[in-house]
Amino acid sequence: DDRADLVVVANRLPVDRVIGPDGSESWRRSPGGLVTALEPVMRKPDRAWVGWGGQPDLDLEPFEFEGSKLVPVPLSAGEIESYYEGFSNGTIWPLYHDVIATPVYRRSWWESYVKVNQRFAEAAAGAVEQGGVVWVQDYQLQLVPKMLRELRPDVTIGYFHHIPFPAYGLYSQLPWRRQVLEGLLGADVIGFQRQADAGNFQRSVRRVLHHTTRSNEIVVASPQDGESVSRVAIAKSYPISIDAQSYIDLANDPAVIARAKEIREQLGDPKTILLGVDRLDYTKGIRHRLKAFGELLQDGRLQVGDATLVQVASPSRQRVDAYAELRDEIELTVGRINGDYDTMHHTAIRYLHQGFPREEMVALFLAADVMLVTALRDGMNLVAKEYVASRTDNTGVLVLSEFAGAADELTSALLVNPHDIGGLKDLIMRAVEMSPGEQSRRMRALRRRVLDHDVEDWSHDFLSDIDKIRRARRDTA
Ligand code: G6P
Repeated sequence: DDRADLVVVANRLPVDRVIGPDGSESWRRSPGGLVTALEPVMRKPDRAWVGWGGQPDLDLEPFEFEGSKLVPVPLSAGEIESYYEGFSNGTIWPLYHDVIATPVYRRSWWESYVKVNQRFAEAAAGAVEQGGVVWVQDYQLQLVPKMLRELRPDVTIGYFHHIPFPAYGLYSQLPWRRQVLEGLLGADVIGFQRQADAGNFQRSVRRVLHHTTRSNEIVVASPQDGESVSRVAIAKSYPISIDAQSYIDLANDPAVIARAKEIREQLGDPKTILLGVDRLDYTKGIRHRLKAFGELLQDGRLQVGDATLVQVASPSRQRVDAYAELRDEIELTVGRINGDYDTMHHTAIRYLHQGFPREEMVALFLAADVMLVTALRDGMNLVAKEYVASRTDNTGVLVLSEFAGAADELTSALLVNPHDIGGLKDLIMRAVEMSPGEQSRRMRALRRRVLDHDVEDWSHDFLSDIDKIRRARRDTA
């Protein structure tokens, strides 16, 4: 039997198929925090990953890649538009990030979302062994738990929500609010990043479905399944993390250390390098960060040559309007600031609309004195944890938005409300001027948290709750 005991289902496979300029085909690591977190989980035998390969109409047989089994799910060009760019990233993403952009409610997108979720559920059902576990990932697949339960009642189902879950006042806008909650409640364990997300979800479940909740449990009344005893689902927070040791190893790698030094030289050896690393997304607060930095130059509190901001904004969802507009706006702002302040020798902002391999990212983390994470809303923000893990000598300052999930844990960072530009400017200056003693006190505390709770702990906590349910079911069967 080539079916797996643990199947992960996510919109994307951990690798994307890319076609080179010469027509050659290769696989490249997919963007985003989800893949970063789940890759280490998959480095175990008897596990499979079901997901889309990143190109339209890619109908491939399951295959092995770097030791894990990958099961591709095809999407047509039309489905990429309606299910992925449309419902997932034009409706759910902005709604769940507190309507920073306006969600669009389009019935044809919803229909496509239902249809594609059914396809993922069927692929998962075909990949998991009898009595196994399926772990569904993220907002693109919220209907899969219920669909899968109907196909495979023998399977224990987990769902992890990588992004925020909004307050009921916002959630209730969704025309399909009932169906989405019912879809999620098909899972035995529903995990969120923060306690607040789990609380918002439970409240929506009480309001829309009238289920009873008690601390981390939801009593799922299910007369339609013909169950005599109602089922209990767990809904609680499991804050996600990183493979901290792999960042420490890279940070200690002589080639990476040499590259960090080279980056500083190439930037003209400024006293302070500030760094932002994000997918180019309106949730990340890139505009607020640029505004604050530009004003600090204008006020003369920072000088070009003394301070440089490196902003990596990796391309993301480029065919979604809000993303294309954001890119224009950011590039206009960067161009204006650089135009006003650059010299022949020095640049104010080094802007890179590119993705980089992990070695280069860690070199950047080592080169940066101040890391700016100014998200307006973010499920967790793993970049904040990656920076902290990489600072093995306890230097460097993390400026972190209160609105990133990471702020619940990384309380020794300089926490900021990015909407308050004046406050953000003052905090950036505090970071730039912070004494080595304070840097080290704060960084030690941050590192302790990240190293004590890494991604292995995250998946272990989640999967052991799954296992409890699985064992209880086996005992009653
Ligand atoms: C976030 C989401 C993931 C998503 C990633 C990259 O981390 O939580 O589900 O995969 O962004 O976005 P993309 O749309 O390129 O998959």
